[in-house]
Amino acid sequence: MGNLRAGILGTGHSYPKGILTNADLEKTVETSDEWITTRTGIKQRRKAAPGEYTSLFAVNAARQAIERARLDPSDIDLLLCATVTPDQILPSTGCIIQAELGANNAAAMDVVAACSGFLYGLALANSMIRTGQSRYALLIGAEILSQYVDYTDRQTCVLFGDGAGAAVLGPVEGNRGILATRIKSDGRYEEQLFSPGGGTRRPPTAETLAAGDHFFKMKGNELFKVAVRSMTDISREVLEEAGKSAEDIKLFIPHQANQRITDAVASKLDVDDQRVYSNIAMHGNTSSASIPIALDECVESGRIKEGDLILLASFGGGVTWGGVLLTW
Ligand code: ACO
Repeated sequence: MGNLRAGILGTGHSYPKGILTNADLEKTVETSDEWITTRTGIKQRRKAAPGEYTSLFAVNAARQAIERARLDPSDIDLLLCATVTPDQILPSTGCIIQAELGANNAAAMDVVAACSGFLYGLALANSMIRTGQSRYALLIGAEILSQYVDYTDRQTCVLFGDGAGAAVLGPVEGNRGILATRIKSDGRYEEQLFSPGGGTRRPPTAETLAAGDHFFKMKGNELFKVAVRSMTDISREVLEEAGKSAEDIKLFIPHQANQRITDAVASKLDVDDQRVYSNIAMHGNTSSASIPIALDECVESGRIKEGDLILLASFGGGVTWGGVLLTW
């Protein structure tokens, strides 16, 4: 690849109006605001109302990102939707969004990599732009996780929330843009976070539905260790690849899974609290939407400035993990 760099030209986010607080969950499962706050940092999460589906929020976030990039939907030639909670199996949510936006020149597809979906998408869009196969890529992370959460399982129902975030990428000049991307997986950890029913291996039947096989099952404390290790390692790898050190980082935006995971990774990387962004208290874990929502919040609040070195890191079901280093 030549010297051409891809950068983020515009961002957006959108989420349901409905809020599910820790106090609400105290009424339905054996838990407490105190436990959820100290173990996860989460105070509330957004929850879609009946009839609200993934592409609704994806389209809102995407429109905002395209507008801020000062482009028209017809300028987009690659549309990637990172999601594990698609509108339906076929067609892809990417195609549903493509039609809704009128992005008539775009190839569209979904990226299924759980919480790492957005960073997987960034890595793919970066390569497509750098090799000249795409000019403007729209990348969305969108989830309605509440449809796959078992609200009788206190291990998982306290963690997850709904929402969408988007970014438009294109060629950039000067020192701006993506410096390094790395994405990895290890399917041997499948059962740490999975949804066993509803696919071809265990097709949906009255029995699988009654057994709740379509809901997320999680081994939280095992995943915790994998998360800390993988996000720390991949962050070091992208820093090294770009010839940068932790001191150079202006802002670290990790996947928002658990405040204790964020704190552990930041501490191992030697990035102090002032340089770490967290919105987990307000959103919980929104899987592939978590990094783009956080990114757009930082852009809106002026927390990110031109020239800042930003580190993004994620891990998720699969397991998958990724790291991206970019200059804003
Ligand atoms: N309220 C009260 N008690 C609870 C709750 C709850 N909501 N959930 C679990 N507990 C109890 C457990 O039953 C256990 O009780 P016991 O000691 O009597 O057996 C005790 O709390 C400790 O349980 P642990 O699971 O060891 O608690 P831990 O400190 O590991 O925290 C948590 C659990 C929050 C799930 C944590 O492990 C975690 O965040 N793991 C990572 C999970 C994650 O991020 N998953 C998403 C991956 S990303 C993606 O792709 C979507």
